Amino acid sequence: MEKSSGKKKIAIFISGRGSNLKSLIKYSNTKKSIIKIVLVISNNFSAKGLDYAKKSKIKNIYIKYSNKKNFENRSLKLLKQNNVDLICLAGFMKILSGNFIKKFYKPILNIHPSLLPKYKGLNTHKRAIKNKEKFSGATVHIVNKKLDAGKIILQKRVKILKSDCEKSLQKKVLKIEHKIYSKAIEKLFTNY
Ligand code: GAR
Repeated sequence: MEKSSGKKKIAIFISGRGSNLKSLIKYSNTKKSIIKIVLVISNNFSAKGLDYAKKSKIKNIYIKYSNKKNFENRSLKLLKQNNVDLICLAGFMKILSGNFIKKFYKPILNIHPSLLPKYKGLNTHKRAIKNKEKFSGATVHIVNKKLDAGKIILQKRVKILKSDCEKSLQKKVLKIEHKIYSKAIEKLFTNY
């Protein structure tokens, strides 16, 4: 019997650096992991995350995004072929259509670098500092048709210090992201 049988099959969508992907690969290789990463899809040919997938011998594919419909249809085909149970967006900087979400019909998670519902969208750290927030953090949520607005699965906060700048806050929050994404997946499949 395959060692990983019984594990949830995950596809990860990325657009760039891929540090969240890297931490999920690390988690998937632990004994307690409930997931097997079966597919990595990138809309960006030079995404560094694709190299992590290659190195870890995970099926990985770049799909051109110039045509959104084409990107989504090719992705749906691959998701079906690989019996994917869950999609994790990890620094995937495109918005999936309602049609895609409906057709996939299984959960899609996203990780976002703010304490949602605050600071949806881009430049979260810059805006949090500008507004003199005392805390920021990271959120893992279900993806629905509205941007960064689906049900929150897990959230963790960090203190914003007076000495923090956008870069230092981004670093702190990313550290938190790497801790909570795998925990959110476990939570999704156990108590959701
Ligand atoms: C992460 O901070 C993630 O939360 C953010 O992009 C970064 C990707 O980093 N995602 C979004 O802003 C999505 N709206 P990574 O490529 O190193 O995982």
